Amino acid sequence: MIFLNIQRITKKYIMEVIIQPTREAAALLTAKIIAAEVRKNPSTVLGLATGATVEPVYSNLIEMHHKEGLDFSLCKSFNLDEYVGLSGDHPGSYRYFMNSHLFDHINIDKRNTHVPNGMASDIEAECLQYEEAIWGAGGISLQLVGIGMDGHIGFNEPMSSMQSRTRVKQLNPVTIRQNAGYFGGPDKMPRRAITMGVGTILDSERCLMLATGAAKAEILAEAVEGPFCARVTASALQWHRRAIVIVDEACASHLKNREYYDWSFNHEPHWAAFRN
Ligand code: F6R
Repeated sequence: MIFLNIQRITKKYIMEVIIQPTREAAALLTAKIIAAEVRKNPSTVLGLATGATVEPVYSNLIEMHHKEGLDFSLCKSFNLDEYVGLSGDHPGSYRYFMNSHLFDHINIDKRNTHVPNGMASDIEAECLQYEEAIWGAGGISLQLVGIGMDGHIGFNEPMSSMQSRTRVKQLNPVTIRQNAGYFGGPDKMPRRAITMGVGTILDSERCLMLATGAAKAEILAEAVEGPFCARVTASALQWHRRAIVIVDEACASHLKNREYYDWSFNHEPHWAAFRN
């Protein structure tokens, strides 16, 4: 009996890297994996990310909703993060991003969509309630993440604890420069954000990282093939029970084991439905 349980657990533990020819193909594959999850389990709990990388994922999901009837009506979602001091109607807020890039265009019940409240008067209580809400929903089935220029996932900036939970983080100047464009300059950027912790992300059943573009090739290789270290919090995915990293060619240029990654994607039966 114990042997059977161990088999069941070990079978699930794997990190896979999938390289797609273009940014568009990488985003489409990511959307197909999310769509397959939603079809398999209509009341699934999705963990969602914001940012330029995931925008085409959401436009693909919107298209699948309209053309294929992909049904989000029973889904719940939890976003990774939100800026402290921004309300949901601020165009730079992540609630605004999610509404305008996804939620307003699909049939998800907005009451089932969660983004941390950056305006909460008691931020610590807000963070605790966010963790409790994730637990209350039964945990996250599929968590989508991007990677920051400093190797962050969520806003878990370098040297975040790999066990951290939802809390407020001071943003790295690297991140402020990365996202300043959304605010019309670094001076207008919020300095702090509420973010799920690395530990929160590690609790998800599956974690899907999408990274595209040459600018992230070095940090992506550090995260995937470098040491597991708090300096690059995305390296926590190496510790995740079921991590899938999807990159385009431009972002794959520093990976050393790509022959193996390609081989696995092309031969593993569980990817058959996702190969062209
Ligand atoms: C956003 C988030 C961040 C971004 C990352 C990449 O919710 O948690 O970790 O995923 O900063 O952002 P882009 O895609 O804009 O380069």
